[in-house]
Amino acid sequence: MIIKILTMFPEILEPVYRIPLIRRLLDQGEWSVQIIDIREYVPGSFRHIDDSPYGGGAGMIIRAEPVLKALKSVRTDLSHTVFLTPAGIPYDQRKAHELSEKKELVLICGHYEGIDARILPDVDECISIGDYILSGGETAALVILDSICRLQQGVIRSESIREESFEAPLLEYPQYTHPRVYEGREVPEVLLSGDHEKICKWRLKEALRVTLKYRPDLLDRECSEEEKQLLKELEEE
Ligand code: ADE
Repeated sequence: MIIKILTMFPEILEPVYRIPLIRRLLDQGEWSVQIIDIREYVPGSFRHIDDSPYGGGAGMIIRAEPVLKALKSVRTDLSHTVFLTPAGIPYDQRKAHELSEKKELVLICGHYEGIDARILPDVDECISIGDYILSGGETAALVILDSICRLQQGVIRSESIREESFEAPLLEYPQYTHPRVYEGREVPEVLLSGDHEKICKWRLKEALRVTLKYRPDLLDRECSEEEKQLLKELEEE
């Protein structure tokens, strides 16, 4: 996959080359990441990259011209262009899968109060990584790249992706590793039993417990008979 990131602050994106899985994809030649400085597309030395908003209001707006010039210089017929903004569709695991299948991704990072809306006809979609305002889209771009690099073929085992929270419609059950007892805290007995069926049931119940506590909205769906039974048991505890 070819990834092109348009930014006014390239230095914020330097860590992308140090994220281990991304590093591996780059070293294997599976990915290429190009960081494009929008400031290089500001015409003339005296002109500014931003200006005050028409109609008044606080803050500065990035002008459409340098962004569109930068975009036009890097975009190809294969590009899927995403503008990172709090006013976009919410990013989730389904969207991560969708983006991970693109051949070429162009991410546009905004700053200040945003970018002149006249860039939008050149954008395929607007994505928000959550209901909060970041100082710019660069950290959102890092989040997106981190989440999609794990989904590339062969990066991690496909079973482990399937078992994860958000791939299944429940949050993940708690996991344990050695030692069996750490400072008096024991690994649940059932996980040592070797009884696969019992372990699966325990994991489902614990996944339901965590989901009920932190994301009850994920249970607003038709639950299986087994889930209903386990939810009843949890209610009675
Ligand atoms: N830029 C500023 N806030 C953002 C958010 N929540 N998601 C994506 N890009 C952003």
